[in-house]
Amino acid sequence: MSVAGRPVPLMSDLLTRYRALETPRVVGLMSGTSADAIDAALVEMGPRPRLLDFRSHPLPAEVRRRLQEVFEDRGSPREILRLHWLLGELFARAALSVMEPGADLVASHGQTIAHLPQAEDFCGESVRGTLQIGEGAVIARRTGCLTVCDFRPADLAAGGQGAPLVPHADALLFRDPHVDRLALNLGGMANLTWIPSHGEVEACDTGPGNALLDALAWRATGRPCDEGGGLAARGQVLPEILAELMAHPYLSRPAPKSTGREEFGRALADRLWGRGNPEDLLRTAAAFTAASVMLHVQRYLRGEAQILVGGGGVENLVLMVELSRRLPEGVRLLRMEEVGLPAQAREAVAFAILGHETAHFRPANVPRATGASCPVVLGRILVP
Ligand SMILES: Nc1ncnc2c1ncn2[C@@H]1O[C@H](COP(=O)(O)OP(=O)(O)O)[C@@H](O)[C@H]1O
Ligand SMILES: [Mg+2]
Repeated sequence: MSVAGRPVPLMSDLLTRYRALETPRVVGLMSGTSADAIDAALVEMGPRPRLLDFRSHPLPAEVRRRLQEVFEDRGSPREILRLHWLLGELFARAALSVMEPGADLVASHGQTIAHLPQAEDFCGESVRGTLQIGEGAVIARRTGCLTVCDFRPADLAAGGQGAPLVPHADALLFRDPHVDRLALNLGGMANLTWIPSHGEVEACDTGPGNALLDALAWRATGRPCDEGGGLAARGQVLPEILAELMAHPYLSRPAPKSTGREEFGRALADRLWGRGNPEDLLRTAAAFTAASVMLHVQRYLRGEAQILVGGGGVENLVLMVELSRRLPEGVRLLRMEEVGLPAQAREAVAFAILGHETAHFRPANVPRATGASCPVVLGRILVP
């Protein structure tokens, strides 16, 4: 086909060409619930995907502030649209920053602005949903690559939570025939993937990762996080509040399950505010985060195992200490770097892998992890 004498590529031709590549290069783009940065990974696909480049581009403070307002339901459709477009441009720029060696596909998670995995009554009907912004058409146009975006809705439409989607990628990246492993991501929320040496992967969100800590740090200092856990390090755990937090109904809910800022973000921080000094509240939040992670970890372990920890939370030393002191016997805590993947890169790498599966029309959700009724092909494909 041609328009004004210029050939227009057909999506089917582009996909056929992509599928013929033995080791295609895929850019994975991610901005997590923390909305701190756009992470871009260039991954060479193969039996074990290989990370070629990784860069993290902090979001401008003004953009974070506006996103925060949208998260809190204070954004007009026009504001959301402008952010959607702007993030499309910023995601495209992040992709280009790792594309110098050449890339064959871009896979963008986008920025989640709302995630409602549980059915809610709305206008007399039951609704659920998930919404990620960062216009894919802009990314495809600027990068000149086939682009996959909107990974989560297909799983939700099949009855799943739309999250976590990383387990399929985790199995490819981390499976070890000699040791049971657990991949733990400390992003805004914390999620784990159980990767037994033999057997099926399982996964769930365990509760907050950094979200509660960030929200408290914001109230205490006006800064987006407690750098290194410095404030929390000067505080004491408040046992009464910790016990109260551990009684949160999310913790006892059976998997599959996923959670978000709605449950463990600013609203919860606001309820805790004033019940102790900021240092003690931060220390207690770190203890709660670690304890809720370990509560879930223990549901999977069956002896010796390794926990591979990634995500921005590894930079919070107090959180890492609180995790270490709760480690079950025979379990080692390793940073993802120790198995060859930068701690911050894992989610961007995971979406590169998921995009590759989508380009092959292969399902990549793990129904046991998300609760979907069947495996589904994830995402929407856009032609440059
Ligand atoms: N130096 C640091 N000290 C304390 N916390 C940090 C530091 N660096 C990153 N973090 C935490 O990690 C979060 C970002 O982690 P990330 O894995 O990118 O999460 P998400 O996937 O939600 O974007 C930040 O919001 C912050 O809470
Ligand atoms: Mg992030």
